Amino acid sequence: MSQNGIVMSQNEIVITDVSPRDGLQNQPVHVPLQTKAEPIDRLVRAGVRQIEVTSFVSPKAVPQMADAGELVPRVVAAHPQLRASALVPNLKGLERAHAAGAPEIAVVLSATETMNQKNINMGLARAIEVSEDALREATRLGLRTRAYVAVAFECPFEGPTDREAVRHCVARMAEAGAQEIVIADTIGAASPGAVDGVIGMLLRDLPADRIGVHFHDTRGMALANAWAALQLGIRRFDASVGGIGGCPFAPGAAGNLATEDLVLMAESSGYRTGLSLPALLEIVDFAEGALNRPLGGRSITWQRKQRAQQSDDVSADRVTG
Ligand code: COA
Ligand code: ZN
Repeated sequence: MSQNGIVMSQNEIVITDVSPRDGLQNQPVHVPLQTKAEPIDRLVRAGVRQIEVTSFVSPKAVPQMADAGELVPRVVAAHPQLRASALVPNLKGLERAHAAGAPEIAVVLSATETMNQKNINMGLARAIEVSEDALREATRLGLRTRAYVAVAFECPFEGPTDREAVRHCVARMAEAGAQEIVIADTIGAASPGAVDGVIGMLLRDLPADRIGVHFHDTRGMALANAWAALQLGIRRFDASVGGIGGCPFAPGAAGNLATEDLVLMAESSGYRTGLSLPALLEIVDFAEGALNRPLGGRSITWQRKQRAQQSDDVSADRVTG
């Protein structure tokens, strides 16, 4: 496996934190630019090497992302080594992302007709073509590319997603040159068995290194799904610090798999993520303050207790030492 030319060992996993895009796109109150930039700086300091920073979509569709053209140059200047990715729904989005200096883009294709209509106002066949055009043009421009295949397990409008449709979307994105294809459980309806079925099917056509997974935690199975993917050899995971996330156009979509949960599970099972849990916890604290609501994944209470315990131990050592 390779990542930026570095050979990855089998127990190394690569996490793309999607909180600045997937987490913030749904926030009802406007989040100022500085409040978007600061957690990105903190994520980089916590060891995250790939971040989905924003999206270049219609500001009418998603007002929260209207400042993408200001955020990207700032992030790229501050973190030239970061794989800063931006979601683009069409060529116009790609042009804007490129003009802003984004080194990587992600196209967003849904595997069902209705989800494409609701999300990007075009049907499946057109959405495939638009994504292909954006991928080819991005490749020509020398950008790194990711392609989401959304609602890969279940669609909020059409029910369980046809696996052949997923396979077809993935094949078209692969042929158009997507370097990483991200299988997204947009509404959090997958189960480990379904992950086994869908990812197992895709692995017959593509190497594991080219597939990423993106789970939401609506039914409490995001970690179990990540584990199922890990067992199949997948090493690329999207996650969101504090578990924030959800698509405004997919009813019922709850938060993402929390980055701090994934790191805890992976590291305690012998995998390496390169991310610092204490630093991630501080970002959850920061985001709670900024968004004014409780955040955090499944393990947040335990992780905070551990932190409090450790700081008590340090204080006690100081007193006794
Ligand atoms: N960025 C900014 N503006 C864009 C744009 C982009 N990527 N793509 C289109 N527009 C603008 C057009 O210039 C046009 O502007 P005007 O009204 O001032 O002339 C307007 O949007 C309509 O353009 P059109 O091509 O007809 O788009 P649409 O109305 O059919 O909407 C999308 C299509 C894809 C632009 C819109 O549905 C969208 O942005 N969806 C994103 C959804 C999303 O972010 N989902 C969550 C992540 S999965
Ligand atoms: Zn998502």
